[in-house]
Amino acid sequence: MNGGEWRSASGALFSRNLHRRYPLAARAEGSWIYTDEGKKVLDAAGSAAVVSIGHGVAQIGQAMAEQAAKLAFVHSSEFQTRIAQQLAERLLALAPSNFQRGGRVFLTSGGSEATETAIKLCRQYFVERGETRRLKIVSRRQSYHGSTIGALSVSGNTGRREPFLPLLAEWGHIAPCYCYRCPLGLEYPQCNVACADELEKYLEENDPETVAAFIFEPVSGATLGAVAPPAGYAERIAEICRRHGILLIADEVMTGIGRTGKPFAVDHWGVKPDVLLVGKGVASGYAPLGAVLASTDVADAFVRGSGRLIHGFTYSAHPVAAAAGVAVLDYIQEKHLFNRVAPTGVELGRALEALRNDSAIIGDVRGLGLLWGIEFVRDRESRTPFEAAAQVADLVFDAAYDAGVLTYPIHGCVDGTRGDHLLLAPPFILSSEEIADLVVGLKTALGRVEQNLSNSGWKP
Ligand SMILES: Cc1ncc(COP(=O)(O)O)c(C=O)c1O
Repeated sequence: MNGGEWRSASGALFSRNLHRRYPLAARAEGSWIYTDEGKKVLDAAGSAAVVSIGHGVAQIGQAMAEQAAKLAFVHSSEFQTRIAQQLAERLLALAPSNFQRGGRVFLTSGGSEATETAIKLCRQYFVERGETRRLKIVSRRQSYHGSTIGALSVSGNTGRREPFLPLLAEWGHIAPCYCYRCPLGLEYPQCNVACADELEKYLEENDPETVAAFIFEPVSGATLGAVAPPAGYAERIAEICRRHGILLIADEVMTGIGRTGKPFAVDHWGVKPDVLLVGKGVASGYAPLGAVLASTDVADAFVRGSGRLIHGFTYSAHPVAAAAGVAVLDYIQEKHLFNRVAPTGVELGRALEALRNDSAIIGDVRGLGLLWGIEFVRDRESRTPFEAAAQVADLVFDAAYDAGVLTYPIHGCVDGTRGDHLLLAPPFILSSEEIADLVVGLKTALGRVEQNLSNSGWKP
């Protein structure tokens, strides 16, 4: 293929993988995406844990169009808008009690911007208080907080960090909470959540007064699919942070706004972080939107101090994106969608457990609410992962797509490169019939992949 032909086949977009031919999405409705060629695919991934209320809800588009017609844009250094104020108030109302009466919201265009904002917010919080030695943001291995340089610095997936290592800040990563492959070789509950004490250990070995914050995904997502910590973990992490005067950032870009069955995943354990990050589901994909929620205490340091967070994006608090956010929250409320997540999640979990019994390569099925992970292994007994080169998550993703189900493939949960799994994060409106469709599609896909693997020498 000459250069011109290659270009016309792959398009002018700098796509995620220039060697891959992507299907053209033409329209979407409810839980389904339709391609240009007329293929219908069940969006069991919520695209990437984004779509919460479902595709094609006309009233969201109408709210955005009305806002664009009335006031499409003003710059946040010059004006506030009613719609952005409204969104901030609505988000704070969903947050834990330490965000009420004085919490503040910084609106962004997505999750990575939210993480970048949180890093700078936490650093400046301590500058405002005169604790200028506090600068490190500690995080966990196998975590994902975004793709920009600051967000990648705190992310812990070695594969995603590797090419950019010379550019990244190294503040320290502790072990993840991952019971299926406990990094400490222990078992719950006898372990007494020792993985949370890894934070304490880090602080003993590194001057705690140089640490500004600890950031974690309360339920992991993009690089360690859907691992919810056992009771006691998040509480212990919060207690350690409190005792050392370190801020706790809960990255709820994937889990926030109902995805795990509560407004925020930290609500499952009654944990009150100092900073909460949202993205993805906050506008359900209708607009690029994210937010950083600062607790009353964090916001007060700025109110009493310089008053100025030295930070900002041109599109912070974009009125049309804010209108999408408010309309999505209205829709969730009108249709009581938060209430659907827990029971639908239980139903989906049961169906996935049954699927595990039928497949020799499913090692673990785990999740909370409508965030589920399926981890693949070459041997269930020893939990041995497939070699990375076998690209098993991609094989299952492709086969599931052919069978009409969109999933989200993840690699590297074991050590940054090995460890294949799929993430499922369907819209909250998923019906029982659609769960059945999902299982049929996955079963077909797994059968095909297992056949191909055994043709190349794998034995169940
Ligand atoms: C927990 C978490 N934080 C941050 C991000 C980055 O968000 P975005 O892709 O919107 O920049 C993601 C995206 O997957 C995420 O899952």
